[in-house]
Amino acid sequence: MEIIICANETRVGEIGAAKVAQLAARVGPKVVLGVATGSSPLATYQELAKLVAAGELDLSAASAFALDEYVGLPLTHPESYHATIARTVTVPLGLDPARVHVPDGDPTHLDTAGARYEAAITQAGGVDVQILGVGANGHIGFNEPTSSLRSRTRIKTLAPRTITDNARFFDSAAAVPRHCITQGIGTIMDARAIVLVATGETKAAAMAAIIEGPITSMWPGSALQLHPHATCVIDEAAASGLKLKNYYQQVYANLPDWQRLDV
Ligand code: F6R
Repeated sequence: MEIIICANETRVGEIGAAKVAQLAARVGPKVVLGVATGSSPLATYQELAKLVAAGELDLSAASAFALDEYVGLPLTHPESYHATIARTVTVPLGLDPARVHVPDGDPTHLDTAGARYEAAITQAGGVDVQILGVGANGHIGFNEPTSSLRSRTRIKTLAPRTITDNARFFDSAAAVPRHCITQGIGTIMDARAIVLVATGETKAAAMAAIIEGPITSMWPGSALQLHPHATCVIDEAAASGLKLKNYYQQVYANLPDWQRLDV
């Protein structure tokens, strides 16, 4: 795993965007992005939007697949992931809405929703660059602790910690949907490259478990240790639980110039 420790959240956004842009450029205009919602990647999206506005990155022919969606929230609800992705990714990054996909959380279609989403990803040729956040409990997507490390897109029940954490997007914890549809850990692991961004003290335990702990479904993100091309871009606070933090900084500082993204 490549670990890049940045001074602060702003820098995580800049380096996260630089990494995603570099990987996307290697693939070409028809790159397939995997996109997360939540607070963590917002700075990265804003920096990517600047690159697009400056003409340094063109995503007009790209496709995107969101990680997850709440079950039963109307698509027009501002906190539905359909609406969130449109607002924070599709519009600012100049993506074609016809090529932006979000899992179908309509309760009347749930029996086929997972398979349909998997088929759409396969038809697009798979995800080239997956942008990830991480929950305080180590979830990636909405794969809560004890999710199968080989799971595919399916319905999950949100963990109590996730409901509490996501209550800030709703009027109250009671208003947070209890169920979601999420790409599985196996689905996420099929992405050819993964860039995880995390900031703040509340993510320190999860990042320590993901980077340095054993691979375990109790910390779903720890599956990334098995990924051949995963990068974690985190700030000092999120890195504060790492035992080998100095080593990761030393590794990055000694990379050849062509591999560095200028921390
Ligand atoms: C979002 C997602 C989640 C979030 C995680 C962190 O699509 O699947 O895994 O990335 O809950 O959320 P924030 O970034 O809001 O702390």
